[in-house]
Amino acid sequence: MGHIPSTDLTTRIGSVVLPNPIMTASGTSGQGAELSKYFDLSSLGAIVVKSLHAKPWPGNPAPRLHPTSAGMINSIGLQGPGVEEWITNDLPLLERAGARVVVSIWGQTVEEFTQAAKFLAGASDAVIAVEVNASCPNLEDRTNLFAHSATATAEVVKASLVSEKPCWAKLSPNTPDLPQIAQAAEEAGAEAVTVANTLLGMVINTDTRKPLLGAGRGGVSGPAIKPIAIRSVFDTYASNLEIPIIGVGGIAKGEDVSEFLMAGATATQIGTATFANPRAPQKILKGFSKWCKDQGLDHVNKLIGAAHV
Ligand SMILES: Cc1cc2nc3c(=O)[nH]c(=O)nc-3n(C[C@H](O)[C@H](O)[C@H](O)COP(=O)(O)O)c2cc1C
Repeated sequence: MGHIPSTDLTTRIGSVVLPNPIMTASGTSGQGAELSKYFDLSSLGAIVVKSLHAKPWPGNPAPRLHPTSAGMINSIGLQGPGVEEWITNDLPLLERAGARVVVSIWGQTVEEFTQAAKFLAGASDAVIAVEVNASCPNLEDRTNLFAHSATATAEVVKASLVSEKPCWAKLSPNTPDLPQIAQAAEEAGAEAVTVANTLLGMVINTDTRKPLLGAGRGGVSGPAIKPIAIRSVFDTYASNLEIPIIGVGGIAKGEDVSEFLMAGATATQIGTATFANPRAPQKILKGFSKWCKDQGLDHVNKLIGAAHV
């Protein structure tokens, strides 16, 4: 069962209250209850599932993953069964595990976000929020990700409100306009912004003299990107928005969570660390809980934005 900490770890993200500020990150903990054989999924703040399209999606050509210095690069290409099939096959397993579930959705057009979100209207109360993965290519504006444009981000957030669940917008760190884009998400009705997705990168295979990943470019994640994610959260918080920030990027130990909260995050997500050790989210929760206790903290929210004072 969950560890009982002496620090109150509960955190509020808009209308959602979580027992602690640690979740899994989309795409790194399976489609459903895969991690339940390693730890009690209900012990985490929430489980964020891999981004789902309105329809089944095949993903990108192999190779899709490669280790990099202090992290990795991936171009999975959002492979998945589609929201409808996921609700039938995976959601019941997560419900049985007692998890609070955040469903990440994506699309190539604004309309596809609406289609995916519609399937979630009326989904069980185990689904506590929808995370709109705006960090994916916008087919109607070929040069850009939705999350690189304030207007397109607002459009996909609005399109996703048909889910009738609290809506979180997952943003991209590959833009200098992050605070303005977070503001656009807030004005469009998002209850939180998740900061951030992977950094765009590439690895060249020196034998073939070609990009190594099947898709060419990929997203860099892991400890290598943590200082960038921390700065992204710090800048978003410093822009005096009311919207809660969920910090993600390179968290590998409990104290990394403290760092994100001090930068301004209300909660955090753990991705790449889970590839090395599927028990990482639980280990990090324990480490964070101990860190708080050692600091004599009564409530975790005392840390939020502390680096700004
Ligand atoms: C293999 C892999 C797959 C991912 N798939 C998704 C996804 O489907 N949707 C999404 O919003 N983010 C996805 N991400 C990004 C993560 O959720 C997270 O934002 C990023 O990896 C940074 O956190 P980390 O350094 O802790 O991994 C993926 C990351 C990895 C490594």
